[in-house]
Amino acid sequence: MVARWDCASFALVIVVGLIFSVAEVCNGGRTSSFVRNDQLSHDMPLDSDVFRIPPGYNAPQQVHITQGDYLGKGVIVSWVTPDEPGSNLVLYWGENSELKRQAEGIVLTYKYFNYTSGYIHHCTITNLESDTKYYYEVGIGNTSREFWFRTPPQVGPDVPYTFGLIGDLGQTHDSNRTLTHYELNPEKGQTLLFVGDLSYADAYPLHDNSRWDTWGRFIERNAAYQPWIWTAGNHEIDFLPEIGEDIPFKPYLHRYHVPYKASGSTSPLWYSIKRASAHIIVMSSYAAYAIYTPQYKWLQKEFQKVNRTETSWLIVLMHCPFYSSYVHHYMEGESMRVIYEPWFVQHKVDVVFAGHVHAYERSDRISNIAYNVVNGLCTPISDLSAPVYITIGDGGNLEGLVTEMTEPQPSYSAFREASFGHGIFDIKNRTHAYFSWHRNQDGYAVEADSLWFHNRYWSVSEDYM
Ligand SMILES: [Fe+2]
Repeated sequence: MVARWDCASFALVIVVGLIFSVAEVCNGGRTSSFVRNDQLSHDMPLDSDVFRIPPGYNAPQQVHITQGDYLGKGVIVSWVTPDEPGSNLVLYWGENSELKRQAEGIVLTYKYFNYTSGYIHHCTITNLESDTKYYYEVGIGNTSREFWFRTPPQVGPDVPYTFGLIGDLGQTHDSNRTLTHYELNPEKGQTLLFVGDLSYADAYPLHDNSRWDTWGRFIERNAAYQPWIWTAGNHEIDFLPEIGEDIPFKPYLHRYHVPYKASGSTSPLWYSIKRASAHIIVMSSYAAYAIYTPQYKWLQKEFQKVNRTETSWLIVLMHCPFYSSYVHHYMEGESMRVIYEPWFVQHKVDVVFAGHVHAYERSDRISNIAYNVVNGLCTPISDLSAPVYITIGDGGNLEGLVTEMTEPQPSYSAFREASFGHGIFDIKNRTHAYFSWHRNQDGYAVEADSLWFHNRYWSVSEDYM
């Protein structure tokens, strides 16, 4: 009797085991079981050291740089002087050069309801030498401030280059941890790809724009030394017609300039750059993108300009992801996906980075482009010409993490975890790049997720993921 029960139990275990293993096959990849502190983080107080105002009358603050042209031989230097316009000049010189050059910029101000901005300077420096360290100086007299940056190597298909990835950063203690982790990551990102939602000033009454200023001072410690490539998110819209603020993106567009004209774009919300071995396309989830719109027409032309023998890696940045399996913001990117996904497959985009969802997720190479309304083919399928979609909206803002996930994990989702962190996309040559995701709770060198990328254009075998 006892022996018979044992057999029955054994059979039951086998059956249950089979059910679970079938469920495993039906589901997608891995959902991390990492346990995190789920307490909501507040914005750092105004007297935090990270928001410190540089000493001295009218001292330049909120210094940040971005690429200033199409090929990486230009830099836009931006800064704010609080009391008066001051000087528009940037003084700059190469590491091994005695010759100091100067470039003249422009100065802007704007009002947002009862807020008046400081004097926002933008100065484009052009014709820089490749792969060279430059020092630069802004401001006048004893309140002038000096910084440095390194230009990228000349564009070429095998140039190694390391991009950092941060999204939805905000200005909480978690945001500070994310930025510190990025700065101390031994992989050393050389340029940061920022996938939208910057300051979260719009969380405050009347979208208190002084929180745009604190954010500018917070990121200066990194953004003054390496370019941050900007993507606009929904928290940049700042649309508040009930108080007369009916011009979308007003604070963002005054504060963060990008070289959109260099790529033939008519709007700073969508543009592209070439940098080292990458062609990087920035799209706007919050500007018109349907067929016939300026963004659509521009991207159609831009894809024709991509030359993989020159820039082997093709990267797309946007704020709202096409593929995310979190409950929050689920399917918000769907209308844009329907329009653009066929192009991503056709042009063999290597990777699409997005934010918006405050968590991390990496997809398999899949596409969902066969559906034609009547054929019922509406499930993503494995597609080696398709990009990997990475959601990296886990910078650490005051809205906290999204932890609720759709269940079961969809087949397109390879790995997902709701933790704050940043990414590194490390291009080795024309065929290989290494992506790693770094969770804030870990040591600086720890990779919580990683993937070798085999270039979609240059892969020697179609079997490579
Ligand atoms: Fe967002």
